[in-house]
Amino acid sequence: MKVSVKTPATIANLGPGFDSFGLALPLYNIISVEETVLPGSGIEINIIDEKNNEANANVDIPLDKNNIVYKAIELLYNFIGQVPTELKITIKTQIPISRGLGSSASVIVGGLLAANELLGRPADEKVLMSIATEIEGHPDNIAPAFVGGVTMASWEEDGSVVYRKLPWNDEWKLMVCVPDYELNTDISRSVLPKEVPMKDAIFNLKKSAMLVDALYNKDEELLKLSLKDKLHQPYREKLVPGLAEIINNLKHINGVIGTVLCGAGPAIMVVYNGIGASEIKEKVSETWNYYNVNVNFLNLPIEKEGAVIL
Ligand code: HSE
Repeated sequence: MKVSVKTPATIANLGPGFDSFGLALPLYNIISVEETVLPGSGIEINIIDEKNNEANANVDIPLDKNNIVYKAIELLYNFIGQVPTELKITIKTQIPISRGLGSSASVIVGGLLAANELLGRPADEKVLMSIATEIEGHPDNIAPAFVGGVTMASWEEDGSVVYRKLPWNDEWKLMVCVPDYELNTDISRSVLPKEVPMKDAIFNLKKSAMLVDALYNKDEELLKLSLKDKLHQPYREKLVPGLAEIINNLKHINGVIGTVLCGAGPAIMVVYNGIGASEIKEKVSETWNYYNVNVNFLNLPIEKEGAVIL
């Protein structure tokens, strides 16, 4: 038996909500899990790039038991007192890797949901969400990959994940600016300090509260004030050349509500009210071209649906 799951790309943090807020995008990975019939065939993992239909080409991702999808599925098997022996995992990718678009959360969630289905659904959403977060390390991409839309999520001390879906005003558009280079999340987290100044923590606290209110009340002015951060973006500027300039330059474009780093980067998300798209593209290209970075623009709505079993 084979089960396939389609999961969306996600963007985490949304400015002030480091490791907490996220949203889903209509770009997908398809993860298939199959219990192979041949005893002793072991674990087989294939990653297929949807663009060129090539398997395992240029992938710098472990294809053995160190693979994160396998590790997540192994935890699920352990949850029911079993160990996976013969498994074939196939990942068809449309989501660019190491750009801040939640490709890892997408495959973890997809693999877990597929394996859970294969096993006769022994785990509920709570268990799956908590296993996925244990593998990923934070729930901000996991929650929207699971349930779609805009989410805030907290990994509680007992290991459970508490999340809520937040509303989104469909008049607000996203321009996702994806540069042509990868940034490993571990490297991007390694530049963050262990402790932050109290005034910066207070700054983000205020902005996160404002963000929630802006979303509930479709308040564009408040959203404009809230899409700001002092806990991670300033430290990541050295890994994303042009980030500060882009944020600053776009402020002056009519229609732009806010500009933030996508998750750990290096992609940048611009929230705008439908006008100014060509000016946004022009300014971002101009700045990144100065740093010899090429950019691909994705003008996308929010994906309201989460992972689906196909
Ligand atoms: N919140 C995470 C970060 C998202 O910014 O490092 C990336 O996985």
